[in-house]
Amino acid sequence: MADSTTQAITWRADFATGVGIMDDQHRVLVKMLNEASTQLSDTSPLTEYESVVKGLLGYAGYHFQTEEKLMAEYGYEKNKAVPAAEHIKAHRGFAEKVVMTQDQLKAGKRIPKDDLVSFLTDWLTDHILHTDKELGAYLRDKMAQTAAGKT
Ligand SMILES: [Fe+2]
Repeated sequence: MADSTTQAITWRADFATGVGIMDDQHRVLVKMLNEASTQLSDTSPLTEYESVVKGLLGYAGYHFQTEEKLMAEYGYEKNKAVPAAEHIKAHRGFAEKVVMTQDQLKAGKRIPKDDLVSFLTDWLTDHILHTDKELGAYLRDKMAQTAAGKT
């Protein structure tokens, strides 16, 4: 079987938000999810699950901070209050779910690998395609205005 068919998540052209730093970090997340999927199996020790989940949560937290800083810098919350609030809520909701998963693993409860991987890949795909692309479109517009000297 070719590698591309075994990947948990494949980068797609329509993932691009057009904001370089967001796209670079999304590519890292896609890579991390594929690595997690390759590394884990249903018989992996729970400590291995814990370390994979911890790594993903760490990078996701860093990435969310990057996006939220861009929101603040370009007035997203001020100009687009509802999408901004929903976006931040989505980040918090994801982090809470992953922390719950960590607690479950720490308590010795096994999670089927496919359930974990599909939760993560489905969330990321949906979040990029809708929430992040909406933010990306706003940021590109504001960045273009700034570049053109319209302040
Ligand atoms: Fe986001």
